[in-house]
Amino acid sequence: MTDTTESHTVTFPQSRTCPYHPPAAYDPLRASRPLARIALYDGRPVWLATGHALARALLADARLSSDRTHPGFPAPTARFAAVRDRRSALLGVDDPEHRVQRRMLVPSFTLRRAVELRPQIQRIVDDRLDAMIARGAPAELVNDFALPVPSMVICALLGVPYADHEFFEGQSRRLLRGPTAADTMDARDRLEAYFADLIDQKRKQPEPGDAVLDELVHQQLRDGELDQEEVIALATILLVAGHETTANMISLGTYTLLQHPDRLAELRADAELLPAAVEELMRMLSIADGMLRVAVEDIEAGGETIRAGDGVVFSTSVINRDEAVYPDPDALDWHRSARHHVAFGFGIHQCLGQNLARAEMEIALRTLFDRLPTLRLAVPAEEIPFKPGDTIQGMLELPVTW
Ligand code: HEM
Repeated sequence: MTDTTESHTVTFPQSRTCPYHPPAAYDPLRASRPLARIALYDGRPVWLATGHALARALLADARLSSDRTHPGFPAPTARFAAVRDRRSALLGVDDPEHRVQRRMLVPSFTLRRAVELRPQIQRIVDDRLDAMIARGAPAELVNDFALPVPSMVICALLGVPYADHEFFEGQSRRLLRGPTAADTMDARDRLEAYFADLIDQKRKQPEPGDAVLDELVHQQLRDGELDQEEVIALATILLVAGHETTANMISLGTYTLLQHPDRLAELRADAELLPAAVEELMRMLSIADGMLRVAVEDIEAGGETIRAGDGVVFSTSVINRDEAVYPDPDALDWHRSARHHVAFGFGIHQCLGQNLARAEMEIALRTLFDRLPTLRLAVPAEEIPFKPGDTIQGMLELPVTW
């Protein structure tokens, strides 16, 4: 039996001390593999999967549900608890409902589609850098580059007007890290109302566009396969997941590279390393650090019994540093095989946008460091603010110069 008593008092989530390492407060959890007992913000005890092999087995186990409305579903923050009963799509639903939704969207997110989108992504990246360079150093990389790039890409793909970006980026920010639960609920209301309007406009268009949302509206809504609420829920998750996550990987990835000049030099010398570097950055940064499930049957796992109704949380930052799979796990190393990390999840909910995200990260990082070979932080690293532990990890601001 695993001795989990030591980790009883660890509260999840906690803030990182270094933006690219797991919080030091998780150290006892790293020593308590493959399963630990932790407490959530409200003191509720839940399981935390910490071992790589066990985490993947559990994420592929249909006895763990993603149904947020289940009373045992673990809420990591008051903010999350406030919107858990809202209609959700993909991430919040189980098969067979999940399978139907996912199947409709898969063709728009294949590797082939991501390859086709590369020239468009490159244009967006080039334009943003042209504008940033024209304004002159210093720049604030989050707002000047890391956020607008994925935001523009997902807008084009979904058929959402980028002109509305201040509105939806602001609401996403409140949804993911608003100051109060009421704020989160209000942000959700506003996003839903926004999509209800947009869907209405698309429905009235005589000639449907070829963007994802146009297809959903015209085919699915008309054929009755999806109802209006479901289309709104799908649009919300695609828009929010499509820009917030990748933006954080670009900002935190840049910061991490600047803090590892030897690795950066190696990457500059050999562009072929880029895909491996993106995977290693995904593993190391593990920005979506807390996947959530509830057991719907008893499960024997890691020498323990997870009872039906127990909450199970997966810390990607802890799992991706399992030394049994990644020797010297805290080191950034382009030559290890970072494949099989769980930073995009695993199992049926594994990230739908991963091909797109990889293309965006590769193009954004390569072009940024090619165009600005002298890129560096504009203030001391310790002064740069990063996001608190209870949301997607990344930089709040990134002042740079060149
Ligand atoms: C580097 C950036 C990204 C990271 C780190 C990331 C991370 C993740 C993770 C960990 C999951 C699984 C969550 C779970 O199982 O509980 C997930 C699911 C998902 N992601 Fe991403 N993601 C990224 C980019 C994107 C993009 C660009 C999109 C574009 C639409 C996207 C859309 C989704 C969707 C729709 C799901 C739910 C899939 C399902 O339930 O079937 N993500 N993502």
